[in-house]
Amino acid sequence: MDSLEVKVIRKTLEAEGITSFELARADGAPLPAFSAGSHVDVQIPGGLTRQYSLCNDAIEQHRYRIAVLRDPASRGGSVAMHEAVNEGDVIRISAPKNHFPLQHAPRTLLLAGGIGVTPLLCMAQRLAAIHADFTLHYCTRSAERTAFRQEISSSAFADKVFFHFDAGPAGQKLDLPAALAGATPEHQLYVCGPAGFIDHVVSTAKASGWRSEQIHLEYFGAAPQDTASDTGFEVKIASTGKSYTVGAAQNVVQVLKDHGIEILTSCEQGVCGTCITRVLEGEPDHRDMYFTDEEKAKNDQFTPCCSRAKSKTLVLDL
Ligand code: FES
Repeated sequence: MDSLEVKVIRKTLEAEGITSFELARADGAPLPAFSAGSHVDVQIPGGLTRQYSLCNDAIEQHRYRIAVLRDPASRGGSVAMHEAVNEGDVIRISAPKNHFPLQHAPRTLLLAGGIGVTPLLCMAQRLAAIHADFTLHYCTRSAERTAFRQEISSSAFADKVFFHFDAGPAGQKLDLPAALAGATPEHQLYVCGPAGFIDHVVSTAKASGWRSEQIHLEYFGAAPQDTASDTGFEVKIASTGKSYTVGAAQNVVQVLKDHGIEILTSCEQGVCGTCITRVLEGEPDHRDMYFTDEEKAKNDQFTPCCSRAKSKTLVLDL
């Protein structure tokens, strides 16, 4: 992985529970260019790696800006970012990667749920810069929990943004069917936020006639999984012929690591695609949010950090 050493040049409380971090090269040299929708992997004190979308204008090369929602219920990454990363600290990040690229379209609809605004804010800046036709609907719990509200309200594209607060009056709440109405096959929809928000947007869009190819999504963190009915299975390593048992409460990456077989991971929750491994035989039980439905149906690769097996054995191309 290409990694960069960057300095935290500013840490700002953007809203209740949301802090932004501006990152720059310590020597002031330009950072690698990025496109709207990109994220970086951040190496967090304590050994975790987490993905954060870049939410500054993609034209900038003097800084990257990320925003982190403090989530005490998560596995510790966001709390460590809030508590252990401060202005002046030097941290390591990956070069920007883009799994959520913006496509050219006559009209673009951006739907943000909470902290999911980050990649969409970068897209809004880009679309405004090229004078594209777009609308951003930004849904949050309340005005106090709405990161970048002031910045958006005073931006050149403020008239294309609609804020919707769960705690606010009924009249300002998002009328999703109305927002999705009137689409042509060329229109593109980008949605980012918690799993429940994304699922609701995607099902409503499909019911309104949007096709899968027009809908682009990026989950903010993994969807909760029901693991109660998980059972054990075998993984067989094609190169050695050796088999290992993955217990009901274990995952493939852990089990292989215990036997000296290292698979590179990053998010460990099926979001980033770092751990993708080819499957030669058997049927994976895909638990990731990285592959498309079509890719999952091929059953020739899976994400061993979180995915399991429907068949008794999976033969892996390792
Ligand atoms: Fe990110 Fe497996 S490590 S998908």
